[in-house]
Amino acid sequence: MSFYSDKKTEHETACEAAIKAGDTASAIFHAAKAAEFCYILARETSGPVSASYVATADGWLEIAEKLRTTPLPKGKADIRPEPHGESGRSGEPSTAPPSPSSEFQITADTGVSFDDIDGMAAAKAAIYDMVINPMLQPEKAKALNIKPGGGVLLYGPPGNGKTLFGKAIAHEIKAPFFFASGAQIRSKWHGESEQKLSSLIHAAQAEPVAVLFLDEIDGLLPRRTENSSAVDNRLVTQFLADVGGFRDSPNTLLILGATNKPWEIDEAVFRTGRFDEKLHIGIPDAAARLGMLRRTFKNAPLEADVNLDNWAARLENYSGSDIVGIARKACQIAFRRSIDESSDPLVRASDLEQAVRAIPSSITPALLAQYEAFDRQRFG
Ligand SMILES: Nc1ncnc2c1ncn2[C@@H]1O[C@H](COP(=O)(O)OP(=O)(O)O)[C@@H](O)[C@H]1O
Ligand SMILES: [Mg+2]
Repeated sequence: MSFYSDKKTEHETACEAAIKAGDTASAIFHAAKAAEFCYILARETSGPVSASYVATADGWLEIAEKLRTTPLPKGKADIRPEPHGESGRSGEPSTAPPSPSSEFQITADTGVSFDDIDGMAAAKAAIYDMVINPMLQPEKAKALNIKPGGGVLLYGPPGNGKTLFGKAIAHEIKAPFFFASGAQIRSKWHGESEQKLSSLIHAAQAEPVAVLFLDEIDGLLPRRTENSSAVDNRLVTQFLADVGGFRDSPNTLLILGATNKPWEIDEAVFRTGRFDEKLHIGIPDAAARLGMLRRTFKNAPLEADVNLDNWAARLENYSGSDIVGIARKACQIAFRRSIDESSDPLVRASDLEQAVRAIPSSITPALLAQYEAFDRQRFG
């Protein structure tokens, strides 16, 4: 077993090196050998582990085929340099690892709780069913074959609490929060990012309980097309393989993938059942909008002419972050005015009016229609 998986790793590494070196023939050879050993490993194993080897093998064959039809430019990597990296387009690809940055983060306690999130009742209930209650009632869950954790896709327009929700879930189950951003990973050297992502996933899997949040997952698992690079394909395949086995482990892992563009995600991600639960995180309803206004104003004194119920009604079709931004802006405007006028720090209706003019809604009917179309197409 370990002989085959050593061979698999050896050829995978060699293929990657060949891709970096621009050696097409050698890259094809090693991709094909990697696929061969994946198939052997698939035969030697069973269930989801075996399936993940088959998926990885298929990915390597795809890569070999792609390399055959579109050979690598000589001596140039099929790996895009960091936009700000010092390795220019003309020079040799840099082998220096990307500088430590915000694309990967581990937070022991996010400090955000479900109470900090307005609305999203259905999403919260789904998370109770998937992880919180099975962890609180392990005997009952076990009797009914329910294992806490799994994969959830959070999708919806930007600024409506997907990331905040992920952090709150981690806090609620007292788990560390592992974060990676797909968009940033792809803008870096693919090979490096891919390995770092792999180690992040494995680190999360090694925790007794963990939340793994993959932000902008459309960037990580893009729809594979004719024009996808070998490494694009490899990212998807590698990810599917990495998360493939977590169901069988005794640890509790919740994988959250977040996206504003669910229609750009590779079909295989949906097919393989890595994300059993798909939660549409839409724009806030009136009650949630009121909650956000109250939360952001906290104890700030409001003039009698400010009626938050009316403002909540008026801010229909604004995103959560628009609404929080407007309330913060109104406080700033009131603060400045109170200094200029040497008056008490009070928020007036006119301050809110000015804030609303400064922050337009980031949500358009066309954008909402796109999510509706996606829901219809995917869920009937
Ligand atoms: N449902 C919500 N409850 C409370 N605050 C929210 C909510 N949705 C959005 N916000 C505010 O907007 C900010 C951006 O939300 P974020 O989670 O980054 O959105 P997304 O990940 O969906 O783009 C949050 O930090 C918070 O201040
Ligand atoms: Mg986000």
